[in-house]
Amino acid sequence: MSHPRLDLEPAGPALGAFVRGIDLHEPLTDEVVTDLLQAHAEFGVLFFRDQHLTPEQHIGLAERLGVINVNRFFAAVAGHPQIAEVRKEPAQTTNIGGGWHTDHSYDQIPALGSLLYAIELPPAGGDTVYASMYAAYDALSEGMKQMLEGLNAVHSSRHVFGAAASRPGDLTGRLGNAGAATQDAVHPVVITHPRSGRRALYVNPGFTVGFEGWTAEESEPLLSYLYQHAVRPEFTYRFQWLPGSLAFWDNRCTWHFAVNDYQGERRLLHRITLEGEALVEPMPALREVSPGG
Ligand code: SIN
Repeated sequence: MSHPRLDLEPAGPALGAFVRGIDLHEPLTDEVVTDLLQAHAEFGVLFFRDQHLTPEQHIGLAERLGVINVNRFFAAVAGHPQIAEVRKEPAQTTNIGGGWHTDHSYDQIPALGSLLYAIELPPAGGDTVYASMYAAYDALSEGMKQMLEGLNAVHSSRHVFGAAASRPGDLTGRLGNAGAATQDAVHPVVITHPRSGRRALYVNPGFTVGFEGWTAEESEPLLSYLYQHAVRPEFTYRFQWLPGSLAFWDNRCTWHFAVNDYQGERRLLHRITLEGEALVEPMPALREVSPGG
């Protein structure tokens, strides 16, 4: 383990860890920041309880962990453009993030991760489920792994945030700026995580539109297979929020799904997303060179 200064309790067998004994109001030392980023890459998502942060403290924490990416599509918290509002009012029926996805895969350089902080929650429900794309990749057959490692996939924001997106009307005011949804990006289907060095499956039902060079019809069966494989229960962890909880997930090796099971109730969280780095495919296995050959 390369995070000696942290008190971590694994959340589930495949992913997630609760971080104990850290008060996020206090300045984090450089060593603790390094350990948190390492644990984040290893566990996929870190959970903190009882933090009760102001927007300024949430921003300060994010700036300690990385560079903030100002979201183009979510309504922002008043006075804090760095914070995207994840809100559902009692009269609204559609939630934000209510399908499996990983944030910003439509960007050329996808976001590192997000820090989602809970303010107001329904009396029951409103959990977020996470899935490990390390576990999903590891469980594939060697034949499937070899085939996927040669492939790239196209990701897009257009069908979700663009003008032609078929979005339920009650998301109006919570999502906007459709004119900015012009991104398509191509990423390897299997990536090497930039910090952990582990391989992860990098396609997702929210934003992946097909394999590069394949038609949508050709892509669909293999994507469908990967999508149902990737959310096998043993690869997932379901997090129950409490006011003051904060989840810091890694977009490169996890998916998430906000469960919409609290109709008639309010749920309000604040999300800050951090800039990432370009994703690379795994290095081809080094060929053995016979001595003298
Ligand atoms: C999101 O997809 O960023 C929102 C997740 C949630 O509300 O739990």
